[in-house]
Amino acid sequence: MKKYLITGHKGQLGNEFVKVLEKKTDIELYSFDYDQLDISNANQVMDFFSKVKPDFTINCAAYNLVDNAEKNPWEAFKINTIGTSNLAFACEKYQSFFVHFSSDYVFDGKKENLYTEEDETNPLNEYGKSKLFGENAVLESKSKNILFRTSWVYGNGTQNFIYKLMEWAKKSDALKIAYDEMSVPTSVRTIVEITLKAINDGLNGLFHLTNSDYCSRYEWACEVFKIFKKNQTIYPVSSDIFSLPAKRPVFSAMSNSKLKSFYEINDWKKELDLFLGQNKY
Ligand SMILES: NC(=O)c1ccc[n+]([C@@H]2O[C@H](COP(=O)([O-])OP(=O)(O)OC[C@H]3O[C@@H](n4cnc5c(N)ncnc54)[C@H](OP(=O)(O)O)[C@@H]3O)[C@@H](O)[C@H]2O)c1
Repeated sequence: MKKYLITGHKGQLGNEFVKVLEKKTDIELYSFDYDQLDISNANQVMDFFSKVKPDFTINCAAYNLVDNAEKNPWEAFKINTIGTSNLAFACEKYQSFFVHFSSDYVFDGKKENLYTEEDETNPLNEYGKSKLFGENAVLESKSKNILFRTSWVYGNGTQNFIYKLMEWAKKSDALKIAYDEMSVPTSVRTIVEITLKAINDGLNGLFHLTNSDYCSRYEWACEVFKIFKKNQTIYPVSSDIFSLPAKRPVFSAMSNSKLKSFYEINDWKKELDLFLGQNKY
């Protein structure tokens, strides 16, 4: 039986992988969060790999607090760069196929058109830099691997925009949401489905894994409220008014056409409708 390791399994993406993989009877599943397997601890990682020798390693562990990373970049680098590098090294040594996830925040958002896998990276914030260095660790390792960049991930956790939006809606009748941040809302369901197909089909290298099309945060919020039949007013505002510590790219939407040449992928509106129809917030 093939052995699968999922790191960061309490996060929204890790949780979805576990939900799908634990239904499979022909695999052995090992899933942990940082209290059981801290990816930034090289000894723990090597110890696990030497004992279990997983065939597939799916890294869902990450430090995603974009604003906190400005004040505390070391935390982001420890997990997103060193942690990823530890896993890449272990995968190389024990011949585990490595699946890793990165972010649209490796781009500076100045292209004003969909980013492809060939475009130059230039992160604007510490989080983006830590993810880019993590990407380099994967691509420079001799592990067999697949690297997916994704964006605006939503699932069943609390660390996502839809959850926060619903919390704000409980407290206020009027919400202000940025119209000048553009990217692609992407469901964990899409990411898991496409990742497992890609593993099965033996794909490797760098791919942009998002739902199709793109929108502003304001449009995303309006669509969520439409689906949930919420009556609150949403005002489109410039992101400048929030004075957040981390600079964000204005337009970081990525093209998924490389992956779409292999698989069907829903556009973000259709996927949002399907996902919210099946899940509670
Ligand atoms: N969320 C987004 O909008 C977004 C956008 C672009 C790319 N991505 C990428 O997509 C992937 C999945 O993200 P996600 O949204 O599922 O993240 P998430 O919900 O924040 O989950 C990350 C998980 O990793 C755990 N973790 C933190 N440090 C760890 C360590 N040292 N060892 C092991 N586990 C650790 C976290 O635990 P704690 O919560 O206790 O810290 C959490 O359970 C990540 O690579 C992320 O960078 C996400």
